[in-house]
Amino acid sequence: MQRRSLEGRHALITGAGSGIGAAAAAELAGAGAKLSLLGRRLEPLQATAQTTGGEVIQCDVTDADRIASAFDEARSANGPIEILIVNAGIAESAPFHKMKREAWDRILATNLTAAFECAHQAIGDLLKSDSGRLVFVASVASLRGVPYAAHYAASKHGLLGLARSLAAEYAKTNLTVNAVCPGYVDTPMTDQSVARVSEITGRSEGDARSAITNMNLSGRLVDPAAIANIILMLCLPLNRDINGAAVTIDGGTSA
Ligand code: NAI
Repeated sequence: MQRRSLEGRHALITGAGSGIGAAAAAELAGAGAKLSLLGRRLEPLQATAQTTGGEVIQCDVTDADRIASAFDEARSANGPIEILIVNAGIAESAPFHKMKREAWDRILATNLTAAFECAHQAIGDLLKSDSGRLVFVASVASLRGVPYAAHYAASKHGLLGLARSLAAEYAKTNLTVNAVCPGYVDTPMTDQSVARVSEITGRSEGDARSAITNMNLSGRLVDPAAIANIILMLCLPLNRDINGAAVTIDGGTSA
């Protein structure tokens, strides 16, 4: 087994068309992984695949039946799944007293229940690998409360609970299960948050962006490539003893 490379290993990434997912695809492809790129929208996935190669599979992760068939397509293209990066997610904000049940359901379905479904679909393959790797893209919102985003923080707390529980349950196998917990990252999701804050508060986009950027103590957004680099590190066969970790990459928010 090559300990510092992913040569020939099959990695499936959800939400691979943009942001952290696309950056993870580039990083894992650079280490030699064969990719299955899943997401809702075909065009961004194809754009990712142009640089990383790999199989593009359109899949809405809130549809459990579609996850099952999409994972079968991934296996047909690239063999058993040895690395699963559960990254697809959405964010919204609302004061709690105005939060609609539909918004709660939407966030939980995408950020938590879909993570359960993806992990469940892949677990058999992951446990057969000599170096199975499961990485959840969680958040600093997995570690503390977030005003105006109770549903998002609840979903991300749940995601970390899932990660830690699977890590404990499979600790004696060749599978590791870890979470990365980013602060605000320079991705389309943060652009949408800026637009939302600007719309709700009436602040300019520039003011809204600096308010969000300053939530990271560094005063800058995290580079998605830096998150991807940690994901790669967690996936290397060498790092079989990093298990159940919640790695914060947030410019110091949790300092
Ligand atoms: P992004 O919006 O660029 O990426 C999210 C991806 O998930 C998109 O490609 C989107 O199409 C896909 N997706 C959303 N719903 C889906 C569904 N139902 N089925 C399939 N694909 C779906 O944003 P970003 O930042 O790259 O987000 C990736 C992950 O990182 C998310 O789980 C997010 O919660 C997490 N995160 C992001 C932070 C940020 O500041 N941007 C901070 C902490 C965590």
